[in-house]
Amino acid sequence: MSESYRVVALPGEGIGPEVVEASVKVLQHLAKLEGFSLVVEYGSIGELAFNEEGKFFPLRTAQLCEGADGILFGAVATGGILELRRHFDFFINLRPVRPLAALLDKSSLQPHKIQGVDILFVRELVSGIYFGRSGRSEDEDGSYGYHTMKYYDWQIRRVARVALGKARSRRGLLTVVHKENALPQIPWCSLVREEAENFPDVIVESMLVDNSAMQLVRDPKQFDVILAGNLFGDILSDIGGALVGSLGLLPSASLNESGFGLYEAIHGTAPDIAGKGIANPLGTIGAVVMMLQQWGKTHAASSLVEAVERVLARGYRTVDLAPQGEEIVANAETLTELIVQELSELGD
Ligand code: IPM
Ligand code: MG
Repeated sequence: MSESYRVVALPGEGIGPEVVEASVKVLQHLAKLEGFSLVVEYGSIGELAFNEEGKFFPLRTAQLCEGADGILFGAVATGGILELRRHFDFFINLRPVRPLAALLDKSSLQPHKIQGVDILFVRELVSGIYFGRSGRSEDEDGSYGYHTMKYYDWQIRRVARVALGKARSRRGLLTVVHKENALPQIPWCSLVREEAENFPDVIVESMLVDNSAMQLVRDPKQFDVILAGNLFGDILSDIGGALVGSLGLLPSASLNESGFGLYEAIHGTAPDIAGKGIANPLGTIGAVVMMLQQWGKTHAASSLVEAVERVLARGYRTVDLAPQGEEIVANAETLTELIVQELSELGD
């Protein structure tokens, strides 16, 4: 019997539906080529869901996702995504940053600074200031708003163990990003070092978040795995977009303890280009690669990487990559078609 997978697609809004459509096409084609059966079901999240059901992340959508093999997510502008992450306890957010060979000259840095960069961000995703007590109030000094950053030690320890495991299977260096000179009550460094006692082959270094931002731009090759809390991980991982040439290229996987996952690009809804068909689908297609890897379908995953590289090597570029000279401007549909063709040729 062939393996079968059920994927829930949550396109959301903005460019979300365009990049999800492209990714589903590629995934369906791969399923045919690799001989696994695939069912894709669509659910609603974000503004559409709110308009229809009064909730950004309705219970019906949560139930649809339950028991699936993966969630493929587009983008939302306001509500829905944080609730989804929290609902399934997707505390592990993996954001790999690796430049593509054909796009070295698209980086904000000179090619020699970017060639060989291979960073994995491990971002804590269901706690910290995103989920702490918040509100608006007023006192004798006026109206005010507040968001609180709170981390249980166990929340730091569990994501630390994941990051340490990743570092062990890579180059053995873990950088813990923190701001303990100003926020000393949340002891990321000592908690991670305690967990690291069970990972003697991993070198752990601590780096203040402000310095980390500078070092990522100054010399990104020094990093292997970077562990950060929710807010710092969000901010630093966008620097990855400038490193590889476009935020539209970067994928992410968000997993819970059982390995169930949500796969999405790290970009947002990009309202300025939404509906024009020109969005870069490669971030979400990269997320499909991560989903295939998570399923253990390594052959399918590497074929997809290879197909993307071949299309880029032929010079096709979406507009976010500012095509010049010999490069050929492609919209999302054309790029997707080309990837599908390359996959077929690889399969022959
Ligand atoms: C991301 C995004 C989200 C985040 C937004 C849309 C809430 O920026 O996934 O990086 O901050 O987590
Ligand atoms: Mg972000």
